[in-house]
Amino acid sequence: MSQLMPQKFVAGGSSLPRHVAIIMDGNGRWAKSRKLPRVAGHREGVKAVRRVVEACSAKGIGALTLFAFSSENWRRPRTEVGLLMDLFVSTLQREVNSLHRNGVRLQFIGDREAFNPKLQALMDSAEQLTGENPGLVLSIAANYGGRWDITRATRRLAAQVAAGRLDAAEITPERLAAELSLAHLPEPDLFIRTGGEQRVSNFLLWQLAYSELYFTDTLWPDFDQGSLEQALESFAGRQRRFGRTGEQVEQVKGA
Ligand code: FPP
Repeated sequence: MSQLMPQKFVAGGSSLPRHVAIIMDGNGRWAKSRKLPRVAGHREGVKAVRRVVEACSAKGIGALTLFAFSSENWRRPRTEVGLLMDLFVSTLQREVNSLHRNGVRLQFIGDREAFNPKLQALMDSAEQLTGENPGLVLSIAANYGGRWDITRATRRLAAQVAAGRLDAAEITPERLAAELSLAHLPEPDLFIRTGGEQRVSNFLLWQLAYSELYFTDTLWPDFDQGSLEQALESFAGRQRRFGRTGEQVEQVKGA
């Protein structure tokens, strides 16, 4: 673990995840079942985001990473993409001060250059305003893809090699991991996907290598504190072995 890792992550107990990552799926189906436009599902999804951020903060979970917009989501109908962008802008305008007051550190991962200048400016100023906050690290993945992340890290290392500052033989998993978007955080202990699909969908491909995976049929707008508790209970009941045997893990715990 990096020397720069804040104490709250180092001290985390094993039954509570230090970092939770969520694919928030099912907004469209939630809206469709109510004969509402898809964007109504996304709006309701923002309420679920607020609930989960509050619950994670209250529990002392160190980091929460949410997949808000994937690099593939540009393929959706133009009107839906436009409405989602408007929703991101209005949500940031409305929520950032309250996140700041609550000590949340907000950051964005992904290629933000594709977003309009107004949204980019809001992202930058939210990061600046909340950058020193001591509480929950809330990462919003926007125009993010796991393959993009790994490719970008590789390109950075290749540039160092080309400049003669790094020997190719010195490239290790740790060096590559240090160039990834969430390098300053522990990898997610718990990955949650709502909406019934059981896929990772190009989310944090590298960082999910040892995460516990939790899938639920609950649609994202219906996800509430009770749903989060169920996921946390499931996590607490699992034995994380990281390649060791169950007996070895029990011995370490008992030591
Ligand atoms: C997936 O549901 C949801 C999205 C692609 C958008 C998620 C965005 C939000 C919840 C808003 C969050 C906003 C901020 C600022 C964090 P879907 O549309 O794929 O649902 P479906 O599978 O039922 O069609």
